[in-house]
Amino acid sequence: MMRSHRRISRLVLVLTVAISAGACGVSESTSADVTEPGADDVGSGEVLYQANCASCHGVDLRGTDKGPSHLSNVYEPNHHGDASFLLAVRNGSPQHHWRFGDMEPIEGLTDDDIVAITAFVREQQAVYGFEPYPP
Ligand code: HEC
Repeated sequence: MMRSHRRISRLVLVLTVAISAGACGVSESTSADVTEPGADDVGSGEVLYQANCASCHGVDLRGTDKGPSHLSNVYEPNHHGDASFLLAVRNGSPQHHWRFGDMEPIEGLTDDDIVAITAFVREQQAVYGFEPYPP
């Protein structure tokens, strides 16, 4: 009785060592500490959005009397892809979907900044969904 119990504990010990050695090998061959893609972008994008876009597009993205809501259906990724954000910030956007007037180019942002802003907008769209267009 005692003997077999001791043998089992030794077997458990051997198995435990073998399993943790195996786990070690696995974590070496894959990169375990990769962060969610775009997670950093969304955070800095929010700060940049609030500083550069919110005065017209709204702190909650739902627009103001100076600019449209980015949660409108018309800004779905299929209607306005990520490139349209880059173009709008670089070149401005003449009035065409709304009656707020033209959007002037926004100065002082790098391409990376605009990518981060767009990531933030896409995340908010995914969380809150879309409003009908026209409103
Ligand atoms: C001074 C006000 C103002 C600011 C600041 C502003 N926008 Fe706009 N934006 C507008 C208006 C007005 C329109 C709508 C033009 C239309 O379609 O009638 C617009 C449209 C857009 C569009 C759609 C362009 C298209 O292709 O139809 C995008 C994308 C956009 N803005 C992104 C941004 C981002 C990103 C920022 C911040 C970096 C920003 N805007 C800051 C006023 C503004």
